[in-house]
Amino acid sequence: MQLTKARITAIGTYVPTKKLTNFDLEKLVDTNDEWIIQRTGIRERRISEPDQYTSDLCAAAANDLMSRYHKSLEDVDLIIVATSTPDFPFPSTAALLQEKLGISRATGAIDLSAACAGFAYGLHLAEGMVASGLHRKILVFGADTLSKITDYTDRTTCVLFGDGAGAVLVEADTEHSSFVAYHHATEGKGGAHVYQTGLADQMFGTPLNGSGLLVQNGREVFRWAVRSVSEGIQELLNKSGYAAADIDWFAPHSANLRLIEPICERSGLPLEKTLYSLENYGNTSAASIPLALDLGIREGKLRDGDRILIYGFGAGLVQAGLLLQWKLDPQHTSPNP
Ligand SMILES: CC(C)(COP(=O)(O)OP(=O)(O)OC[C@H]1O[C@@H](n2cnc3c(N)ncnc32)[C@H](O)[C@@H]1OP(=O)(O)O)[C@@H](O)C(=O)NCCC(=O)NCCS
Repeated sequence: MQLTKARITAIGTYVPTKKLTNFDLEKLVDTNDEWIIQRTGIRERRISEPDQYTSDLCAAAANDLMSRYHKSLEDVDLIIVATSTPDFPFPSTAALLQEKLGISRATGAIDLSAACAGFAYGLHLAEGMVASGLHRKILVFGADTLSKITDYTDRTTCVLFGDGAGAVLVEADTEHSSFVAYHHATEGKGGAHVYQTGLADQMFGTPLNGSGLLVQNGREVFRWAVRSVSEGIQELLNKSGYAAADIDWFAPHSANLRLIEPICERSGLPLEKTLYSLENYGNTSAASIPLALDLGIREGKLRDGDRILIYGFGAGLVQAGLLLQWKLDPQHTSPNP
């Protein structure tokens, strides 16, 4: 196997048109706009239509990518979809997308389950596949339709989540590698703190009835994230040889602004240099980081040459971080800021 370089050359995103505001939620559960903004920083979320699924959001994100990339996706040879809300347990969302996008030469199609760390994991796998020479052009999606598994009678969770999708292309390159360093960590004993109910509910000592909805102990997740994500970021920086001051943009998983603030403070990464997508989209799980990156591009913040630290974390409990050197394909375009 011959080692080559892996470069992120294009990006595209999509969110459904239907909005669910804090005021809409006031009509569903005992909550209010002020509480939600003060505890989370979230104002509204996007909600998919009843007949709109994760593969539909991914296809729309891929269409956005294609309109900005100006080259064919015909020669994509692997599709990776990071999601916790696939259309079906099987067939994979990635296989559905191969058909929807008409990528006839795609040789591989897999779904990846790493909750809110899924997009960072997807990029990491794509880098490994391209750098090893096994694949040359990989479409990586981070996408979720969490509204479909959210309990809209539970005020502690339903105020947090929304739907969205992001797509990036990772290609073999002779000159530029987008990937500088990575860090992963898993604490499986925290699995009971955030999960979707299912066949094995008894495992966590809570005999729910397999309703298929999201259950969360927000306080425990919050405590874990502030501690372990800050430690993980430090390990990632140590591995990379860069200091916090060398990072142009920090793009953590957009779980909650009140969670991101202490992580920034502990990590020495200023909030002003942080990209997040939660204010208008809520916590979109695997989609939250690509949505934040694309907002950064559209707002004229994120530019070629920038060093970006992306950091996903969530159910597992898992975390995955990457230090990236951003440099899209020279032909790639984005809407004016
Ligand atoms: C969920 C979260 C916003 C709750 O905020 P919090 O400050 O921890 O709130 P608590 O759970 O301590 O609850 C405080 C009070 O607010 C109440 N409350 C909870 N949700 C509420 C809501 N939507 N509206 C109004 N009150 C609410 C609680 O019932 C509790 O009331 P009590 O003191 O009378 O019992 C917060 O814990 C969080 O964001 N955790 C991380 C979750 C996350 O990011 N998960 C995804 C990881 S990928």
